[in-house]
Amino acid sequence: MTPYEIARRAVAPFMPALEGEVAALLAEAVPRGATLLDVGGRKSPYTIGLPVLVTVSELPRESEHQHQHNLGLDDAGVAALRRTRSNVAGVVFDDMSCSALGAASFDAAVAVEVIEHVDDDEGFVRNLARVVRPGGPVVLTTPNGDARPVHGADHRRHYRRDQLIKLVTPYFEVVFVRYAVAMTDNRLVGMRSFSPRHPTDVFEVMRANVQSRRESADPDVRRNRGAAANLVALLRAKSPEVVAAAAATVSKSERVPSGGPVRWARRSEWVHRVVMGDAMLAAPGGERRTLQGLAAAIWVVLEEPLTVEELTDELRDLTDGVEPDHDAIDEALRLMEDHGVIERVEGRSS
Ligand SMILES: C[S@@+](CC[C@H](N)C(=O)[O-])C[C@H]1O[C@@H](n2cnc3c(N)ncnc32)[C@H](O)[C@@H]1O
Repeated sequence: MTPYEIARRAVAPFMPALEGEVAALLAEAVPRGATLLDVGGRKSPYTIGLPVLVTVSELPRESEHQHQHNLGLDDAGVAALRRTRSNVAGVVFDDMSCSALGAASFDAAVAVEVIEHVDDDEGFVRNLARVVRPGGPVVLTTPNGDARPVHGADHRRHYRRDQLIKLVTPYFEVVFVRYAVAMTDNRLVGMRSFSPRHPTDVFEVMRANVQSRRESADPDVRRNRGAAANLVALLRAKSPEVVAAAAATVSKSERVPSGGPVRWARRSEWVHRVVMGDAMLAAPGGERRTLQGLAAAIWVVLEEPLTVEELTDELRDLTDGVEPDHDAIDEALRLMEDHGVIERVEGRSS
């Protein structure tokens, strides 16, 4: 192992919970000495120290959008992988939605927080199954759309568990798709970037990650669709013949829509009045709802359909520039949708 890998292994317990979940799954599912394709791997932190030969597949970092959201790899990123990693055998630039890699050319694959960035997700999973030898393990993670229906501009969509299962089933034997990583403040704090020049920030991020890992070990997180931030799937690739035959029959019409952030709108049957900061809603059939706190504020600013970014800007204005809590907005929108007072309207390209 290189000094970088030794240092990273030493601090592994202080790294984000998802990284730990993926590393543990790979250690269990991927045999020693296997070839492993890390699709959209970037720095591939979860394969550090794994006794396998990793090939990182990535998109070249070219656009302003990629720079802004820290996506893709540039020359410096490739050089860093070559310099610091002993088990990264190579880097390839390849788009998995239309991959040029050969059929059955890897023993296993992993794609951590990638598929939500992809326009052609069906092409992505089809090619992923094609490039792995039949029966080879594939680990896939993505944000949990059951609990986090709202996504930002760098994601095309968030999948509910049933939607992800439906997407992969034609091409993979599904071993399991479960929930992972407790949706708590510690998860968010643990994902902050920090500089070693600010030791208190480093300490705070590490403390939050230790807590987040502890919270994520609660068995309820794996079962409860509302408690987890991510979906984690362990799949086994079907044979190339089955993959090719399935491609012809998969219905494109039932896909999870993409096309940029969805807009949220008040459902038109409700009328409201605001009393001391609460929004009192009434429908013609006599139904009543009272929205308080953040939900009331969201209702008030949804005078017209808004994306979550627009909604966040409006809420920031309401609170004199204080940054609203994104997970709290997610949660409030989900509850308001469940209560039938708001709805999603057609997404628009970002
Ligand atoms: C959020 S990053 C995740 C990086 C890494 N897997 C991790 O968890 O640290 C998503 C990465 O997927 C890559 N990506 C997006 N679409 C892709 C595609 N169609 N094929 C390969 N990589 C893709 C992006 O360039 C980006 O670096």
